Amino acid sequence: MALKNTIEKIGWVVVILLVFVGLMSIAGRLYVVVGTMLDASFIESDPTSFDGRYNVNPVLTLSHLVPGFLFMLLGPFQFIKNVRAKWIQLHRWSGRVFIVSSLIAGVAALVVTVRLPVFGNLSALVGVTLFGTIFLFALLKAYFHIRKREIAQHREWMIRAFALGLGIATFRVQLILLQSFTDYGFVEIWDTVAWFGFATNLIVAEIWINVSRGGVKNSKAQPQMELPSSLPQPSAQP
Ligand code: HEM
Repeated sequence: MALKNTIEKIGWVVVILLVFVGLMSIAGRLYVVVGTMLDASFIESDPTSFDGRYNVNPVLTLSHLVPGFLFMLLGPFQFIKNVRAKWIQLHRWSGRVFIVSSLIAGVAALVVTVRLPVFGNLSALVGVTLFGTIFLFALLKAYFHIRKREIAQHREWMIRAFALGLGIATFRVQLILLQSFTDYGFVEIWDTVAWFGFATNLIVAEIWINVSRGGVKNSKAQPQMELPSSLPQPSAQP
């Protein structure tokens, strides 16, 4: 139990750092896109350059980043145990805003991949499309489970969805680290982190779901699968 508490504390520190990175990347991109909307000569508007792709698609960019901002702010809040215990209505309402914002950000991400189009090679396109689709699937699964009062499954799918959305911040950190410590070019690194950023978060989320699963009970009893008698039987949960 002490180990689980330590892992949980480290997890919170990492999440807060990643949220900070996510918010900074939104702020940076918004500054350039809104600046260009207000003054076309402000920054790069060549549609083939990295920044120009965003600047010539301001509505699409904003429909990804504004709900992405809400995702970053509300996501961690949804996982605070005390908020759920004391203010369940607040958890419900901020959860609804979180899910709607995340769905909009996720659908916009899929449009971005073809409309901007996404930077990098086919590898990056496949990576972000795959993880963007799993992100949307996880959000919908989480929503439909809570509608059926299946709290344990709702929690697990919310962890997956949040981890995947936060993957964009892990992507950023890995991009900077690989640029600083390897000799690979920007495109090779970009294509790599387009997979590695989201995959890292999804793997960590799966491990956390597995090690913390015992702590959450469903309001509806879940059928338990019996283990073969030849295997050691688990002791009852405290
Ligand atoms: C799984 C969910 C997500 C997917 C698949 C996704 C996908 C993408 C894609 C394809 C781009 C364009 C990259 C390019 O070619 O320049 C992009 C840009 C961006 N996304 Fe997302 N995104 C997701 C979630 C989020 C969230 C939750 C945020 C909130 C922080 C976010 C923030 C950004 C930012 C700030 C950019 C601009 C990057 C830059 O300035 O270089 N994304 N995203």
